[in-house]
Amino acid sequence: MSLNRLKKQAAWAALDYIYPGTIVGVGTGTTIFYFIEALSTIKNLISGAVSSSHASTILLKKQGIEVFNLKYFSSITIYVDSADEINHRMEMIKGGGAALTREKIIATMAKKFLCIIDKSKIVNVLGRFPLPIEIIPIALTYILKEMIKIGGQPKHRKNVITDNGNIIIDVYNLNIEDPLSMEQKINALPGVVTVGLFASRTADIILIGKENGIETINNHSKNI
Ligand code: 5RP
Repeated sequence: MSLNRLKKQAAWAALDYIYPGTIVGVGTGTTIFYFIEALSTIKNLISGAVSSSHASTILLKKQGIEVFNLKYFSSITIYVDSADEINHRMEMIKGGGAALTREKIIATMAKKFLCIIDKSKIVNVLGRFPLPIEIIPIALTYILKEMIKIGGQPKHRKNVITDNGNIIIDVYNLNIEDPLSMEQKINALPGVVTVGLFASRTADIILIGKENGIETINNHSKNI
């Protein structure tokens, strides 16, 4: 079965976690494209959505789902998003779609973070996927140098400006044994807006699309 079919399967399974009257936090990416399609089938039951990117906002509105401005909320019942990599402790690398900052804001505000993935996203150690970092443009050379110091091979993601007007660096060849301390260390560098490590805010539930159906992991049983 193709990975896209597995993404779609996980996306539709997420509907079981959306309760009537909810404002749903919506992530960004190809898996979320399927989730928005699925969400449109229950759009009359939910109150609307808050979105992690302009791209998802456009898709949500196209499906007739009302999108609220996040700035009016201090918490959200549920956030549904995917990941680029996720480990056995539910720590993630995110930001392949350059939406990591808004994703981290909504994920942190959410009472429940439901992560929907195809089986290829599961890893033992984070870092096979290049780690995205959103930075203020003038910090480019400084942050490139700092990432080499920690053992990575950073590259400026060309022709990408984030929804916040910033740029993205992707750091290759990291072996992230301690995601929480690396998240804290990189976030502390001046010029960094957000690092795409989600270790202080992990997922609460993971739905994994597999050939034989959906595997569900929640934070009481983390054996992926
Ligand atoms: C976007 C993200 C996405 O969740 C991540 O890139 C996975 O994307 P896809 O569903 O296309 O595989 O973090 O910033």
